[in-house]
Amino acid sequence: MCGIVGILGTKPVALDLVDALRRLEYRGYDSAGIATIEGGLLQRRRAEGKLRNLSDRLSTEPLAGLVGIGHTRWATHGKPTERNAHPHMTEKVSVVHNGIIENFRELKEELTRAGAVFASDTDTEVVAHLITHEMKKGADPIAATKAALARLKGAFALAIIFAGHDNLMIGAREGSPLAIGHGDGEMFLGSDAIALAPFTSQITYLDEGDWVVLTRGSLDIRDRQGRRVDRPMITSQASGFLVDKGNHRHFMLKEIHEQPEVISHTLTNYIDMSEGRVNFPDIGLELAKITRVTISACGTAYYAGLVAKYWIEKYARVPVEIDVASELRYREAPLPEGGLAVFVSQSGETADTLATLRYCKANGQRIASVVNVRTSTIARESHAVLPTLAGPEIGVASTKAFTCQLSTLACLALALARAKGQISDDKERELVRALTEVPRHISSLLRDERRYEELAHYLSKARDVLYLGRGISYPIALEGALKLKEISYIHAEGYAAGELKHGPIALIDENVPVVVVAPEDELFDKTVSNMQEVHARGGQIILVSNVEPDATGCSVVAHLRMPAVHPFVVPLIYAIPMQLMAYHTATFMGTDVDQPRNLAKSVTVE
Ligand code: F6R
Repeated sequence: MCGIVGILGTKPVALDLVDALRRLEYRGYDSAGIATIEGGLLQRRRAEGKLRNLSDRLSTEPLAGLVGIGHTRWATHGKPTERNAHPHMTEKVSVVHNGIIENFRELKEELTRAGAVFASDTDTEVVAHLITHEMKKGADPIAATKAALARLKGAFALAIIFAGHDNLMIGAREGSPLAIGHGDGEMFLGSDAIALAPFTSQITYLDEGDWVVLTRGSLDIRDRQGRRVDRPMITSQASGFLVDKGNHRHFMLKEIHEQPEVISHTLTNYIDMSEGRVNFPDIGLELAKITRVTISACGTAYYAGLVAKYWIEKYARVPVEIDVASELRYREAPLPEGGLAVFVSQSGETADTLATLRYCKANGQRIASVVNVRTSTIARESHAVLPTLAGPEIGVASTKAFTCQLSTLACLALALARAKGQISDDKERELVRALTEVPRHISSLLRDERRYEELAHYLSKARDVLYLGRGISYPIALEGALKLKEISYIHAEGYAAGELKHGPIALIDENVPVVVVAPEDELFDKTVSNMQEVHARGGQIILVSNVEPDATGCSVVAHLRMPAVHPFVVPLIYAIPMQLMAYHTATFMGTDVDQPRNLAKSVTVE
């Protein structure tokens, strides 16, 4: 992961570099650093931890210089210490890097034998030494970088500056995103257009294998073979204003509260409200002919895909193959001729999802992606883009992006069901009506958060929490457990309620809270049987249901009372208590809710 930025400016760049890094902190926040050229010499400032530590360092030890690079890190190789923070440098070259250099060990050994002295445990530092090695042999910065790039294996986006050259910056992209920003007599590099938004909206994305030589007045893009290439300049819509928290204590809470509005926006994109019918865009495939759908994603986005499997199979009667992207890409899964493959991703940059997309594309699939960032790599490499209109999601734990993914996938399921002749017009209207009522139900759930605050005291004492659900509530149980563990650090696992007796029931005792997701649907009685198994063993039940606990024959420690809703939209509504339980428990425990430890918002490494 990591975020990188570079500026060839006309005034001192240090503070602008930090400003751009603030917009990239979603990509990692283990450490941060910048390097500039002062009086021909490379200088840097780095700090462990969040970006504010780097800002503090710069206020006491400022950096001058009109050219510079910056980095915010999500550690892959080496601990998140200052010594491992980027930029990495020699006396000649300074480098920031997003990605992984897979052959760094061989290169490091070779360079060490040639006399290089390494100062960090990172893979990145070999890039600085490799370029320096070429320069010491007599190559100029451009030739040296070209030679070094040819030897790197792995995934990387790089920004590089050179001592004594304050009108030169080189960028390279192989597997990790990199955008060029065109300013007025200035040039920029950044991991995305959002980082560059305060400076310019004129953006050129590099293709895989491209590298670029920038001066203040020129750019020269080469492809992997070294041929000069033109890449289009586009006008980015990324906003120059940093999204703020408004009146909310955390971005996550703000984003939870935005859900009624952003779900409405997303639904309006796929539904003809006056007709009460789905109005789905042409994805370049005849939906009626689709015989199987392949879905792939990671984490929360994967759980959205899992819900879609239940919807598509039930309503459209089309079989769905689904797997986490990190598995599907290596399984050598056979794919149907001309099949539809759907990828779900908030960021649109997740490395595993992107690699799986490419595998499916190479195997003749039509690619549709459900993404929140329309300019992302996954969007650009898809045949059809199904945008979620969630707006920027800053909290690392996904909330509004998840429910917008569900909204989009629900419409895809209905479009398929209609094309396949599996639902009548009346049924379609009934299901569309249920979808359009979702924002109202969520608004009313969000009006009373007190019960979650009370529950937080209880949950914060737990060491383990189990989540159970059946049918379409199973992915919601998985998502609930993921939300709780990632922001509160309490161990939590989701299980299909029917699987409990095949092993996990051994974990149940009077210290283990068990969250039972039990909407009143056709599986309710079966879920209640599993709940009774928990109750009989002293498990402490938190019931999330529209049915009163009395009707279950179990005593519960808490009942999160839900509205009675159409079974079709249960996942959208029941996602909300999962989010609120996790959020309030984590804030009660005092963890860093928006930037939990070890995580990053955009996961661009395998
Ligand atoms: C959890 C979470 C992650 C992401 C996953 C995929 O709250 O946010 O599990 O869902 O890393 O990210 P995207 O959707 O950007 O592909």
